[in-house]
Amino acid sequence: MAKAIPIILSIDTSCDETAASVTRGFEVLSNVLSSQISIHKEFGGVVPSLAKIAHKDKIDYVVNLALKRSGLKLSEIDCFAVTFGPGLAIALEVGIKKAQELARENRKPLIAINHMEGHLFSSLATPPLKNGINLNSFEDYEKTLFPLIGFLISGGHTELVYAKNFKSLYKIGETLDDSAGEAFDKCGRMLGLGYPAGPLITRFAKDNRKNVSIKKIKKNQSNLVELMNKRDKSIYSLPIPMLNSGDLNFSFSGLKTAFSQIVQNIDELTKNEIYNLSSLLEASIIEQLSSKLKKSIEMYEVRSVLLGGGVIASAKVRSYLRNSISNSINLKYPYNKRLTGDNAGMIGIVGFIKFATYGFQHNPEKGIYLKDYNEIDREPSLEFGNI
Ligand code: KG4
Ligand code: ZN
Repeated sequence: MAKAIPIILSIDTSCDETAASVTRGFEVLSNVLSSQISIHKEFGGVVPSLAKIAHKDKIDYVVNLALKRSGLKLSEIDCFAVTFGPGLAIALEVGIKKAQELARENRKPLIAINHMEGHLFSSLATPPLKNGINLNSFEDYEKTLFPLIGFLISGGHTELVYAKNFKSLYKIGETLDDSAGEAFDKCGRMLGLGYPAGPLITRFAKDNRKNVSIKKIKKNQSNLVELMNKRDKSIYSLPIPMLNSGDLNFSFSGLKTAFSQIVQNIDELTKNEIYNLSSLLEASIIEQLSSKLKKSIEMYEVRSVLLGGGVIASAKVRSYLRNSISNSINLKYPYNKRLTGDNAGMIGIVGFIKFATYGFQHNPEKGIYLKDYNEIDREPSLEFGNI
């Protein structure tokens, strides 16, 4: 007889992390990843062919370690889940192949998961508890959570999603060019900070807090953030794009251009200037993110806001987003840093949601369960549509 709460072994190889995890309902029993940052660092971004080689090299290791850390045996796994996309095709392929192999050999279902849905629901994950969620109370749980807005801020995406329930998800805003994470990374590269630069920039901005004052100003009909260094009185300003766009979309490429002009005009980048520019860049990105979240809450009445994606690792981003919305809204973000960036734990969470919502049947309509383990011909989509 099937157990009430399924134990799911999940795999994600969508980009530059080889990841495997074991989850029981919303409980994360293990969440292992092998990062390729050191491999891609010298190229300033992810090189797909190298990513594939590294995934192949590490996939067995991370799967075995995830099992070992969960304290469970392979025979105790009820179901397998794997990221189908979006991501780098040749990287995804490695995880999909491994998951097919495991499901076939162990005669267990295989669930295909959309990576963005993983980021969207990553904040629902909990540490291991004695009593996880009871399936009988799943509908009540759903009612206390929805309707909600999901805010996905990563290196690949910047998206706002409105969801009425676990089945109905609607994309209400997205970036027209670069993502917020890319803005951090590309501008950080101009400062010589290596890849990924987001964590360093937010750290420099934090260390610099006492030395600078930052304010929002309006000049010639455009919104700017202006930084003044209290000691040397140097002043820099950057635009805050899209504040008056009237919609929930984002844009970061103009910011990147403005940032490169400032950098080019500085003869020699001193440590102090790198700190100033980090503070300023962070302020502009956060202003755009919080103003769009605030606007989305004005447009849609929601109970909760779920944050996900690598950029959410920044405590400052989280606290500004918290302050931009009413206290009556339940704001959730992943309980640990590993769940913010790419990981397989979040894939297991969505696997459980699919199980609780649709059951364990083959559902070709939804592209969710794969009866035939070779039948991987389409990416399950986040059914985005018009509300
Ligand atoms: O979610 P993620 O690991 O990868 C994608 O699916 O894209 O996000 C990676 C992005 C990178 O752009 C990185 O610079 C950014 O998240 N990031 C941060 C921080 N930690 C990671 N950005 C700002 N502050 C951080 N602490
Ligand atoms: Zn991701």
